[in-house]
Amino acid sequence: MTMNGELSPAPAMSEPDSAATRRQNVPRGIVKIDIRARVDPHSVVDDRIGLLGDTHGNFPWTRDALNRFLAIGIRQMHVLGDFGFIWHGGPREHKLLGRLDEILAKRDARLFVTGGNHEGYAALERQFPPDELGYRHLTEHITFLPRGWRGRTRTGTVVASLGGANSIDRWWRKPPRADGHGGSWWPQESITEADLEALGTARVHVLLGHEAPWSRELDKHINQRRSGLKHWELAYAAESQQMFQRAVEQVRPRLTVSGHHHVWINTIEEHQTEAGEAFKTQSVVLNRDGADEALATLEVDRFDLRLLEQRR
Ligand SMILES: [Fe+2]
Ligand SMILES: [Fe+2]
Repeated sequence: MTMNGELSPAPAMSEPDSAATRRQNVPRGIVKIDIRARVDPHSVVDDRIGLLGDTHGNFPWTRDALNRFLAIGIRQMHVLGDFGFIWHGGPREHKLLGRLDEILAKRDARLFVTGGNHEGYAALERQFPPDELGYRHLTEHITFLPRGWRGRTRTGTVVASLGGANSIDRWWRKPPRADGHGGSWWPQESITEADLEALGTARVHVLLGHEAPWSRELDKHINQRRSGLKHWELAYAAESQQMFQRAVEQVRPRLTVSGHHHVWINTIEEHQTEAGEAFKTQSVVLNRDGADEALATLEVDRFDLRLLEQRR
């Protein structure tokens, strides 16, 4: 399914780190340039990527999903939150991560993770401190992205990621102990003002998130699931959707792809920026591990998102 929106194709963008720019900036004489500080290999987005809905630490399903993407030639995959493989950071979790890494390593493929609400944030922060660019390297081939990350394809299509969401079942879960260990809910799940600031306001073409923007279809789905929930549970969950909506209004993406809601949605809605400028966004929500409609490929420059066919 290709979107028929009116937005123009990805504009060519200037490359600030081009060789010409570097040459211009280098004074005469012997100058040592730290190339590593300038080049961010994680910001290079393949023309065709694989997208996974919430994996929830489900090893067999995730292993099969990675293998299916690799079999059709995809080398860059992206989990849309609730990765769930790091919960308390125990040896079994590391072993499973290692097994996923082995699958990726065979084809030198990469798995990027946009954070969800069901992530063990305390263990993630303790065991995987961010590098100078904010990446948490879970393994050599699996990277947990910072909120507000931006990458681009070779032709300049900008892809951003904004993780985080509020748990509707927060009151059934336990916060970590005073020493930071244990627990099943972490306040770091929420999208913050700092996250929106990190995302910035420059336009992006594709926004990957755990949360999803407002749409009539998503509203209908949420309303159907509301019975029996308390008003504060609903209000807390709605907060993160409002924050993600603000992100969408900031960066005006042509396409958003999300997880979290455990449903398949593919719709187009009109939104407005704070200044009142209208724009249309295609919102795709992928279903969760084990469900149909949880895996998709995206030809990034063409905004062409296709579900991976179900195996029957
Ligand atoms: Fe979630
Ligand atoms: Fe989930």
